[in-house]
Amino acid sequence: MDQSDVGDDLANILLTEEQLRERLSELASRIDADYAGKDLLLVGVLKGAIMVMADLARHLHSSVTMDWMAVSSYGSGTKSSGVVRILKDLDSDLTGRHVLIVEDIIDSGLTLSWLVSNLRSRGPASVEVAAMLRKPDAAKVDVDVRYVGFEIPNEFVVGYGLDYDEKYRNLPFVATLAPHVYGG
Ligand code: PRP
Repeated sequence: MDQSDVGDDLANILLTEEQLRERLSELASRIDADYAGKDLLLVGVLKGAIMVMADLARHLHSSVTMDWMAVSSYGSGTKSSGVVRILKDLDSDLTGRHVLIVEDIIDSGLTLSWLVSNLRSRGPASVEVAAMLRKPDAAKVDVDVRYVGFEIPNEFVVGYGLDYDEKYRNLPFVATLAPHVYGG
């Protein structure tokens, strides 16, 4: 899927396919070096992280294992309430494992903050975070993120795993949506 397939739905392309690929390659080199000789478990957060997980894993030279969680915020009616429930838990036991959470985007940081403490309570050797995108201006809580792809403005973005109403996840780049799509 490409820009020509979505008519005038997009406003701007923020990050091209090539920019994403180059940055992931840099992050993968750092991760390979930081975890050399260690057994690493990548934990992808569904659904947004599917693209970054697939591409990051393929850039790594280390042999890693992969597992997935699906979580959802609820309670206040807003997505970033910070009250999170697990829709799909990990299949893996984290005891003694080095865990790297792989996220597509950190917005308020509330989901991730909850996730880090939840996984840390399971007895792992370490828990760190890799996120392709971070919106510093939207942060409501400070989360220590070891690997960040790009810091982006506080705008609604789609593509590369990110959706609007479950659409646009399979665009290969990150773009802002045209206001007419979301009634803006
Ligand atoms: C997105 C993203 C993060 C979370 C970030 O997931 O993948 O998990 O929101 O928001 P926060 O920093 O404000 O907590 P979303 O709930 O949209 O689900 P999805 O990955 O299935 O699209």
